[in-house]
Amino acid sequence: MSGTRSDIIKVIDGVVHAESGEKSQKCYDNWTKNYDVNLTNIGYFLPKRAVESFTNYTKQVNIEKVLDVGAGTGFVGQYLRKDAKYEGVIDILDANMEMLHLASKKDLNFRNIIRHWIEGELPVRDESYDVMMCVGSFIPNHVPVTSLPGIFKCVRKGGLLIFTTRVETTESYKQEFDELLASMERDSAIKRLEMKEVVHFENVEKKINSAIYVYQKL
Ligand SMILES: C[S@@+](CC[C@H](N)C(=O)[O-])C[C@H]1O[C@@H](n2cnc3c(N)ncnc32)[C@H](O)[C@@H]1O
Repeated sequence: MSGTRSDIIKVIDGVVHAESGEKSQKCYDNWTKNYDVNLTNIGYFLPKRAVESFTNYTKQVNIEKVLDVGAGTGFVGQYLRKDAKYEGVIDILDANMEMLHLASKKDLNFRNIIRHWIEGELPVRDESYDVMMCVGSFIPNHVPVTSLPGIFKCVRKGGLLIFTTRVETTESYKQEFDELLASMERDSAIKRLEMKEVVHFENVEKKINSAIYVYQKL
């Protein structure tokens, strides 16, 4: 069942505005089998746009290892392989087994598929990736703002951090997100290369914007 566009938006609102991370995860369990078809229907091209930023910033750089955080069903990996023609290592990490299982069946040659509920640092070696990507997962009741410094540890110095958040969020998430990024930049831990706003779902009337950020780890 793919559902009408307004049914799909209701499911998404249930996931995004769930009372807790656990409840949100239960919604993903039930939604996984329709996730790709539903999101394609409403024009979810945020992963494609983030991969365009990947392509723009990696033209002159040798990239061998990418970690996709909050990877879900593997949309970012799909665009990395098919649009960016990236052939290097992709590891994917997510809390949800159903979503990861679907990703694993896509023949995208993921090296490691890591199930982990992010609260702080990641279960990977520090500075072991050239690029960390995280699309659609920095929102309330998903990946906490406070985990940003822990997540960024996975990328080597000079590597790239490419991620998104919604421009309007509940619980002052976006404000805290931007404040923490600004403080890390003041501490010379990261440098902003780009921030641009794009439409989150292109085929729905009520437009929601997301911001795509590209930072370099210093
Ligand atoms: C909106 S989906 C985005 C998935 C994918 N990046 C995409 O663009 O389609 C958010 C994902 O974040 C995952 N997630 C939410 N909170 C998480 C946490 N604390 N740790 C790890 N994964 C989390 C969910 O399981 C879900 O797969």
